[in-house]
Amino acid sequence: MPFINDKLKYYADERNRKEIEEKQKVPDVTDSPADQPIRKIQTRYRFDVEEVMKRLRKRILGQEHVLKNIENMLKIVWADITDSDKPLHIGLFLGPTGVGKTEIVRVLAEAIHGNRESFCRVDMNTLSLDHYAAALTGAPPGYVGSREGSTILDKEKIEGSYSRPGIILFDEIEKASPQVIQTLLNVFDNGVMTIASGEETIDFRNTLIFMTSNLGTKEIQSFADNKFAFLAKQAIYFFNPGNWGKRGRETVLDHLIKRRLESSFQPEFINRIDDIITFNWLERQTLFEIIDLLTEQINRKLLRYGCQLELDVSAKEFLVEKGFDKKYGARTLKRAVRKYVQVPLAELLIKQTAREGVSYIAQRSIAGIEIKIMHTI
Ligand SMILES: Nc1ncnc2c1ncn2[C@@H]1O[C@H](COP(=O)(O)OP(=O)(O)OP(=O)(O)O)[C@@H](O)[C@H]1O
Ligand SMILES: [Mg+2]
Repeated sequence: MPFINDKLKYYADERNRKEIEEKQKVPDVTDSPADQPIRKIQTRYRFDVEEVMKRLRKRILGQEHVLKNIENMLKIVWADITDSDKPLHIGLFLGPTGVGKTEIVRVLAEAIHGNRESFCRVDMNTLSLDHYAAALTGAPPGYVGSREGSTILDKEKIEGSYSRPGIILFDEIEKASPQVIQTLLNVFDNGVMTIASGEETIDFRNTLIFMTSNLGTKEIQSFADNKFAFLAKQAIYFFNPGNWGKRGRETVLDHLIKRRLESSFQPEFINRIDDIITFNWLERQTLFEIIDLLTEQINRKLLRYGCQLELDVSAKEFLVEKGFDKKYGARTLKRAVRKYVQVPLAELLIKQTAREGVSYIAQRSIAGIEIKIMHTI
């Protein structure tokens, strides 16, 4: 049956031809690379923004606006599309004491480098006198009192690695001397610091720079203490035509804080900061969440002893009562947890009356907090 065989061969050839044609087809407009998502993303950074944020959200409470800001910053850094001659980010954290300004940097270091101490911390208080400023950049040759060329800066932690950014925190920036601020201005501009010996440089172009300050806290406090004065200032602020069009929280407070900053720093300095963020005071509800976080940390340590601890509502309320102090933030709460939970717990462990496989419960008692056996695990 040559006829049928010819037909079959014809169809087979035709199919082949079509397949080859399909493969060789010049892509039309909708197939152009611009319409396709980038499948293999090539970024040098080996940290996952979502994972970092998950950790931060678990550990930093009551500061959602700060976290949102950090998330945006991390996205930009991860995508690696910032100016490559400058530090990756320059942020200033403002706000009261004990509300998470330093803690957020610690958790960020832990999430990016796996260690909460993997950042360089510079306490500006210790550099407040001009001649101590030498400690930042290293003393010039022949300078008395400081080791030549040595600096308090930790080069490794600042420079990070090719795939992970370095982190530095300048605490209490308002205490820095004008000379130190000048040094920082140069770093912000050029991304590099030359150590006074002239031989070594520290590269800040792969660095997240954070600064903290309590500046403006008094202003915020006086607002919080006197709502009437707050409203009066708000009204004055709104009636000033120059301020029309601005809205909400950002208005009076930001304006006041900015004015306070301007009275302490030159405009060039403020101008080079990417983000200025004010932390909130911790609310009562946030303290309950922090207690849960602290209990979780205690329980991680208790794993070694094979027992666990729970706090009932009465114990938590007692701790919040003792530890709610707007002026000192979470530090007062941590002290209360130490005194009323960690001390009796430690006593149990020392006396070896704590038993393995037991779940303990902390409850309010007349004397404070009592720890009792709840059940066996
Ligand atoms: N928002 C928060 N969420 C969870 N824990 C917090 C928060 N704020 C503070 N803490 C706890 O309180 C401790 C002290 O906070 P932190 O060191 O961040 O204070 P700070 O804001 O830097 O204050 P200061 O201006 O005095 O340095 C932290 O180690 C942490 O355990
Ligand atoms: Mg701090």
